[in-house]
Amino acid sequence: MISIANLSVSFGAVHALTNVSFDAAKGKITAILGANGAGKTTLLRTITGLEEAASGEISLEGTSLLNMRTEDIARAGVGHVPEGRGVIAEFTVLENLRLGSLAAKVNFQDGLAEQFELFPVLGERRSQHAATLSGGERQMLAMARALIAKPSVLLLDEPSLGLAPLVTAEMMATISQLCEKQSLTVLLVEQNAKSALKVAHDAVVLHLGNVVAAASAQEVASDERLRQYYLGLVDQ
Ligand SMILES: Nc1ncnc2c1ncn2[C@@H]1O[C@H](COP(=O)(O)OP(=O)(O)O)[C@@H](O)[C@H]1O
Ligand SMILES: [Mg+2]
Repeated sequence: MISIANLSVSFGAVHALTNVSFDAAKGKITAILGANGAGKTTLLRTITGLEEAASGEISLEGTSLLNMRTEDIARAGVGHVPEGRGVIAEFTVLENLRLGSLAAKVNFQDGLAEQFELFPVLGERRSQHAATLSGGERQMLAMARALIAKPSVLLLDEPSLGLAPLVTAEMMATISQLCEKQSLTVLLVEQNAKSALKVAHDAVVLHLGNVVAAASAQEVASDERLRQYYLGLVDQ
């Protein structure tokens, strides 16, 4: 379980996160929802040590991640797929995956076989530069690069951004499978509440850095007030 307690993060006068508290259950998908500027990216970046918390606590299975270096947080089992995917366009698929495996010191060939089984298209395109991949393939590569290090927690920042609805649906299905088969704990940050709520077990709704709801995905999806005011899900 990853536990966030009273977490606050500021950028000068901007309070990006204010007293944020929730638990993300082990082996489940917790969707982090909210409009642009809600603080979703800041939350993930603070978990991986890229932003500094002003106060509060972040712990993984009871061990505090605060004051740990980003590389040690990765070694502790937290994989981060940043906003915009963060693959290196000039590197091939293989080179990008090698980078992912370096941090965790896993056997590269074994990890590679596993990722190509999960994402066969990456195997077919192993020698292509990431720049030549489609948006969906690039997202798969970004996920594979994080997964090859064998994380127990996967942080995904807007994986559906810029993807066609069908590609988004496939990706959500893959996230669901991973979670089930590998008992991966997933924090799924999405502005696209509809797709995320379909696969998430739990959901946290952020608004201007505050938690306005933390409940089961089903409860959040059926709350008219949340749908209308915070999730942009207006019924037809
Ligand atoms: N590096 C930064 N410097 C200053 N303000 C920032 C920085 N990163 C984020 N913010 C501000 O923090 C708030 C939350 O941003 P962000 O976490 O990116 O939201 P989201 O990912 O939900 O769109 C916004 O008001 C944003 O402008
Ligand atoms: Mg963001």
